[in-house]
Amino acid sequence: MQTLTDGYEHWRQKTSEDGICWLTLDKAGSGTNTLNKEVLTELDCLLDQARKESPRGLVIRSIKSTGFIAGADIKEFQHLENAQQGAAAAARGQLVMQKLADLPCPTVAVIEGFALGGGLELALACDYRIAAEGFERNLGLPEVQLGIHPGFGGTVRAVRLLGAPLALDLMLSGRMLSPTEALKVHLLDRLAQPESLDAVAREILLARPARLRPPWHLRILSWGPLRPWLARKIRAQVRRRARPEHYPAPFAILELWMQHGGKGSAAYSAEARSIGELLMTPTCRNLVRVYFLRERLRNLAPKQTAVQRVHVIGAGVMGGDIAAWCALRGLTVTVQDRAVEYVQPALIRAKKLFEKRLRAPGEAAAAGERLSVDIAGDRASDAEVVIEAIVERLDAKQGLFQQLEERANADAILATNTSSIQLEEITASMRSPERLLGLHFFNPVAKLPLVEVIRGEQTDPALLAKAMSFVTQIGKLPLPCRSAPGFVVNRILTPYMLEALRAHGDGYQLETIDQAAEDFGMPTGPVELADRVGLDIALHVIGILGATLNTEAPPLLKQKVEAGDLGAKTGRGFYTFTENRPVKARDYPPPDDELRDRLILAMVNESMACLEDGIVEDLDLLDAGVVFGAGFAPFRGGPIRYAIDTGVEQIIARLEALAVRHGPRFAPRPGWRQINSVI
Ligand code: NAI
Repeated sequence: MQTLTDGYEHWRQKTSEDGICWLTLDKAGSGTNTLNKEVLTELDCLLDQARKESPRGLVIRSIKSTGFIAGADIKEFQHLENAQQGAAAAARGQLVMQKLADLPCPTVAVIEGFALGGGLELALACDYRIAAEGFERNLGLPEVQLGIHPGFGGTVRAVRLLGAPLALDLMLSGRMLSPTEALKVHLLDRLAQPESLDAVAREILLARPARLRPPWHLRILSWGPLRPWLARKIRAQVRRRARPEHYPAPFAILELWMQHGGKGSAAYSAEARSIGELLMTPTCRNLVRVYFLRERLRNLAPKQTAVQRVHVIGAGVMGGDIAAWCALRGLTVTVQDRAVEYVQPALIRAKKLFEKRLRAPGEAAAAGERLSVDIAGDRASDAEVVIEAIVERLDAKQGLFQQLEERANADAILATNTSSIQLEEITASMRSPERLLGLHFFNPVAKLPLVEVIRGEQTDPALLAKAMSFVTQIGKLPLPCRSAPGFVVNRILTPYMLEALRAHGDGYQLETIDQAAEDFGMPTGPVELADRVGLDIALHVIGILGATLNTEAPPLLKQKVEAGDLGAKTGRGFYTFTENRPVKARDYPPPDDELRDRLILAMVNESMACLEDGIVEDLDLLDAGVVFGAGFAPFRGGPIRYAIDTGVEQIIARLEALAVRHGPRFAPRPGWRQINSVI
């Protein structure tokens, strides 16, 4: 066996006795393999050499436990200054992939773990692909989530290998496939146990079976005369989910296929040009920002020993779903309520969740066994985390935590899911106030990724660190917040919903108001959001935040609550709901810029207020909280980023104009004048 590593920092090369060349990627200084300029340059040289030495076959694999290749190096995107540079970087990557594809010997990618984006594109440039069994969804082309599309020839090769419908679906949705699914759709040639991957690679290279290609009925769909018809159909579907002015990448993917059908060298240059342009869009810049914000939240918690046991008190909407989520994530959970009948609905919901999310045989049943009922609350004593989610009443919570500090393990995390009660009020009656912190989950728990981790004035920092780690362990994003009314998310959503109701009072139709927010990029308009949150809860939160926001609830909201019209849950709020969907008028006046500014700048100005009050530590955390917790249009990068992109001076001027017309609530926060010093 001949080994060559000299001069190569990231790749190892060896040629085995049987004449097969093994290229192993182990990107230096990084826990994960990504394709940056140096990694590609080295691969380029190694491929030149392989061409000269003409081995019997060539294998590309990774030595990292974190997977094959996680994609292109996103950090490099940030140094690109113009579309030409972006196109040139893609073209350089394409050349390397083409060199691999053009090698006269057979080539195989051996995938163990993640092969994403550029990593999968590299595998697509090989003649064969084999993957290790036993991984969850680890194969995909998720570039669209960053506002771009594959740029190393993937838009062409995916279509050629899989046929247009599946290739476009993967690129447009960014969804991932498990190895088993990938084998079924012929993205992979073989699956193998991790320990036999090398043997299978060798076997394939020596046997040289026919290369996979789509059946004729899929190939024919990329035929010129059929393309416009199919593209039109798919474009209509995409338009239902995204607007080209907000998210141009999916439309660019379709356009590339429309023009070239995954064929010819022009398809590659068009791909490079297109990604170059997309890389320069504010959407891409902001989605990359959101990607890094997510990474930051994921990595905020110091590594700690994993939690095994959780006890949840209150099996209502929140407690029931928090308990189910923890069991889904592998923890042993006990759930307590006043009587068994209060827990039943939660157990039914949990079963549904497990069946939906855990598809492997026996997994859903195992999760069900991890979740048990403990009405007496005996098991609170051996839990490492105790989460309270009972009624939002101070006396009830005080009484419960007084008992808990006696019962629970001395180093257990004692957490409340309260959305409005100050931690300090609950701890007033505790002997050890440093033991309490807040873990504020959002409804619905299974869908919303953020958890606000609330630090009271006396909370023990070591417990907070443990709580941050616990939130990360259960696959949520922890946002550390200071205990203050509404924390971040409710504090920012409340002015948004309140302004909508005021605008309605000024004569705007409900549908027009929702449309204004959706045109901006919010996932749900403020009126529908209020109906979905529940008007009783909205009224309660406004009551709590009233003093902070210097406002009170509009009379119409109070009337609705008194009449029992609480929104989606009662079938009627501002809208009437059928099958959990609001019935909206089809014809209504279009929104105007003033209305959009009223809704959006109410949130943006309140975000600055949160920063001034030190609810979170910095503006990135604030943006992260509002994007992941309130759904603030991700392609705008967060409320503060939106203000910076628009121009802080312009935001101030718009707020001043709104303040003149609508009242002092729009007065620009003083923080705007200092922001230039922190960005
Ligand atoms: P819920 O009314 O659906 O559930 C409360 C549950 O606690 C009920 O099953 C009740 O029987 C039980 N309970 C009451 N007193 C108890 C006691 N002393 N011991 C044991 N169980 C008791 O309420 P929900 O909506 O789940 O809210 C719970 C907490 O979560 C509240 O603090 C609320 O502010 C907070 N929260 C609610 C959100 C929501 O969207 N509903 C969102 C985020 C936080």
